[in-house]
Amino acid sequence: FQPKPLAGRRVLLTAGPTFERIDAVRGITNSSSGKMGFAIARAAWEAGAEVVIVAGETAQATPPGCRRINVLSAQEMLTAVEQEVDDADIFIAVAAVADYYVLNPSEQKIKKDAHILTLELAPNPDILARIATRPQPPFCVGFAAESENLLEYAEAKRKRKHLPLLAANLVQQAMGADDNEVILLDDNGEHRLPRGLKLDVARKLIGHVAQLYVHGKTR
Ligand code: PMT
Repeated sequence: FQPKPLAGRRVLLTAGPTFERIDAVRGITNSSSGKMGFAIARAAWEAGAEVVIVAGETAQATPPGCRRINVLSAQEMLTAVEQEVDDADIFIAVAAVADYYVLNPSEQKIKKDAHILTLELAPNPDILARIATRPQPPFCVGFAAESENLLEYAEAKRKRKHLPLLAANLVQQAMGADDNEVILLDDNGEHRLPRGLKLDVARKLIGHVAQLYVHGKTR
């Protein structure tokens, strides 16, 4: 017998990179593999939740029992999240979302010539901040991928985005890797999870989410 602390709960999560089109064949993306997000999806399903993954382009296989919506750009990811979020009890933003999109992407492949090419970039919507500041938000969990000053920057992000829980990790260690080291930040302070395979880290993170959410320590 395995306890299912999230039985009957609905978890929505974002995972993987986003892709912002420059022209018919090129775009701006990042090296998120989707491994962390898909591991969390699996751990949430193991914990009894109904899981929906909004996934950027990634080679990860959909974990058993999870529903997957594929997207490319940050705007598409936002649209999919907004369509699903009313049904969600818990929203976990693991995706590495592009902060900017290309203002005027070309329909055709841009031809090379001798000139300097300038791209105009405009800020993308912050999906997590939008969801967390809704009048009746789900329990929101954010990630912070930092390359320095991890705890300071992560806690500032948690406050700025109004999150009850945030998972901080170093981008150099986390992105693309099979394992990860995560520090959870919540209203009670910091909780260091041991370095381990992403699925092990994911199971501990989901255990922490279940404790905060199910035992009523939400806000
Ligand atoms: O995919 P892997 O290779 O397994 O790597 C895992 C990971 C490093 C991508 C993951 O562990 C991680 O840290 N994800 C968050 C990456 C990120 O973009 O962090 P951020 O600090 O820029 O964003 C903070 C939070 O806001 C994140 O929860 C992010 O999903 C969310 N966000 C950011 C920008 C935006 N426009 N919309 C968002 O929802």
